[in-house]
Amino acid sequence: MFGGNDPKFLSGFADTKVSWVVIFRKKIEELGVEPKKTKSHKNEAELTVHHSRAVADYAMVQEGLLVSDAKAAHLFMRFTDECAQARGDEARLLDIISAYTFQAFPQTTHLVLATKVDARKLKTTMVRSREGKTPSVTMSKTLAKRAMDEKVAILFSEADQDQGDSESIVLSNIRTAIVAPLEGANKVFGILQLDIRESSKGIFGKKDLDRVTVFARHLALVLETLRYAQEQSKALESTIHALVHSLFLKDPDTAAHSERVQAITMIVAQYLGMKGTDLEALNAAALLHDLGKQGVHDKVLKKPARLTETEIQHMSHHSKLTETILDKIYYPEHLKSVPLLAAYHHEKMNGTGPYGLSGNDIPTGSKIISIADCFDALISPRVYKKAMTVAASLDILDKGAGKAWDPEVIAAFKACLPEIMTQVYGRPAEEAA
Ligand SMILES: [Fe+2]
Ligand SMILES: [Fe+2]
Repeated sequence: MFGGNDPKFLSGFADTKVSWVVIFRKKIEELGVEPKKTKSHKNEAELTVHHSRAVADYAMVQEGLLVSDAKAAHLFMRFTDECAQARGDEARLLDIISAYTFQAFPQTTHLVLATKVDARKLKTTMVRSREGKTPSVTMSKTLAKRAMDEKVAILFSEADQDQGDSESIVLSNIRTAIVAPLEGANKVFGILQLDIRESSKGIFGKKDLDRVTVFARHLALVLETLRYAQEQSKALESTIHALVHSLFLKDPDTAAHSERVQAITMIVAQYLGMKGTDLEALNAAALLHDLGKQGVHDKVLKKPARLTETEIQHMSHHSKLTETILDKIYYPEHLKSVPLLAAYHHEKMNGTGPYGLSGNDIPTGSKIISIADCFDALISPRVYKKAMTVAASLDILDKGAGKAWDPEVIAAFKACLPEIMTQVYGRPAEEAA
């Protein structure tokens, strides 16, 4: 752990002025809740603040830590490396943060992260105990506010533990704790609190306060990066929703078909072992595959009869129009494949599709969308045709195996058919037999 009991721990900045603030007492108010009405002083838990450390000192403190404890430095570097790899994966990041906390601060029994809702309120975003449980949590509103306002990490403990009424003392389970502000690039947006609620685990000292100060600074940057990634994701998601809505306004049938194709594609893709960002990109591509139909004339798109050759030609441009529209959106690196995955949904194994791709030049994701697309078109009724049976639809897919569709993807589709019938169409799984 950082520093530990090493007397050299602070030697790197022994001649600097350290802003230790000693002993003051505050009433405890439950976080985000009005202060409890107490009947007597015995009902008011009091905390003793032992030390504080300005967050602005973190760079200097960090330097001292890194040169004085190689093991702690290694643990910390591993933490920052794992955070970088987790990127926008919030659940994984919280697990990394929790694992690091309980390893680097072995006396810690509970970890709390809270973010600002507004100037007065905090909302807890993570509460973990060493045992992995999610305990109920209370914090000192006063000390959290002071930590954020003054940008200081504070080490405090309960005072007069044995005098209070345990039912009404908010922090009756806390023995010692450190609260530190989470300060991002521009502002403080929350707090980190580490508790020791079992006296047998020991107490925190000045060195722990320094280590938490450094940890909180890096944690703030990690959480801020996560928030940016989530906002970017939301921006793209809302763009996709807007596009689907515009397709719905143009032709509700095509929009409903797109949603079914998306659902089928996800089932088959997961069966084939696709996951992570590949699955995420395919999910968006499947939903948007027919977006180019907005460029198809209504008299063709909504014609209540079979299309003529000329009309089929006009309709066949829609996959390239899908690419044209989707290409105008900015995607994060892992989703840059969306426009072409969607646009290739009418490519054929024998190279006779709109782009002329063949065989394995067609991405697997596009092959899945193509089969899902065809199957849904066949078993859905249209104004100019009745719905085909599942058996007849499968027969058409089989006849096109190797020419239009990849036989291996058709096999995967068939394996998933019972699930597709129940989950996508709400029909009995037996229809797949
Ligand atoms: Fe299409
Ligand atoms: Fe389609």
